[in-house]
Amino acid sequence: AELGLDTAAAEKGGYEHFMLKEIHEQPDSLANAIRGRLDFDLGSAVLSGMGTSPRELAEISRVVLIGCGTSLHAGLVGEYAFEDLADIHAEVQQAAEFRYRNPIIANRDLVVAISQSGETADTLAAVREAIQKGAFVMSLCNVVGSTIARETGRGVYLHAGPEISVASTKAFTCQVAVLLMMALKLGRGRRFSREDGYKLAREIESIPELVARVITQDARIARIAEDYAKNEHAFFIGRGPMYPVALEGALKLKEISYIHAEGYHAAELKHGPIALLEQGTPIIALAVDIPGKDKTLGNVEECRARGARILGIVTEGDHETAECMDDYITIPRCHPLVATIPAVVALQLFSYHVARIRGCEIDQPRNLAKSVTVE
Ligand code: G6P
Repeated sequence: AELGLDTAAAEKGGYEHFMLKEIHEQPDSLANAIRGRLDFDLGSAVLSGMGTSPRELAEISRVVLIGCGTSLHAGLVGEYAFEDLADIHAEVQQAAEFRYRNPIIANRDLVVAISQSGETADTLAAVREAIQKGAFVMSLCNVVGSTIARETGRGVYLHAGPEISVASTKAFTCQVAVLLMMALKLGRGRRFSREDGYKLAREIESIPELVARVITQDARIARIAEDYAKNEHAFFIGRGPMYPVALEGALKLKEISYIHAEGYHAAELKHGPIALLEQGTPIIALAVDIPGKDKTLGNVEECRARGARILGIVTEGDHETAECMDDYITIPRCHPLVATIPAVVALQLFSYHVARIRGCEIDQPRNLAKSVTVE
């Protein structure tokens, strides 16, 4: 048994938990997910696993992203990316829902199944349904040779490396990075000039560095977490591409710290959740300096007026926004879609430290499994 413990400690590479190790690994895992996949001459992405001809790419009329849990949230960021960058109609469907409603699929639809493990039962069933309906189906998996990767036969591997902690971290950021590259590739055949494509490719290339800058704030985030660990409720708010980041931030916090956390579109606060605010209720506001920030700041003020305590995720150098917050964590200035990645890393670290302070079983939270192979 002692030998077992030593092996486990060694596998954690000096970190207290796999989750912390995996958060810290992200600059490397993202570099692996991106390496060799950007073409700066063409201002595009090379994703040979997609197995599509330029003609097939040009014909895609809609992208349907399917997944569960954290992978579903990556899909939501992807939805913004396909619409913004590629001018292509995109939508996200929870994998179980996709299967049990009547999914309308045309043969020029691209279905992208997103799954870290490649084994999630609902996602697999949705893949089979989509294939049977004649959609063009591809997968975005981390585990090589997994069932979903095999059955779709085409797709893009994340190359994030093995993810042990039940709560997904590096798989999520690599999923988003790959979705951005897919959107770039599709965008180049449509509205994107080579020049625009080049700029975005450079932004994508810088993601590992952006994430490393967030990770340098680890000790600071741990101190901030002290002030939030005693709460039993928390609300995460955001707009635009920061809306799915709010959902993912809330999911991370509830999974590992058992705090009741909800992610909301900032505009939805007024339609219900604001009734729950009391003195000291934490609001985690994604107030990154991208379009819509001012509106989110308006919502922050409404929360403050009701006594909420505000933790802001803000852009480096945006002092004015930082001053609206009780506490803040910064991310480097970058493209609004790219910013989802460093922003989520800030929330991963926040959740981790809150859970650690609360003494939770971080790598294996109660009632949760790394891959859910039953319906
Ligand atoms: C489980 C895990 C989550 C994960 C979800 C989907 O619920 O606990 O972390 O996001 O399954 O898993 P997948 O392997 O399909 O991405």
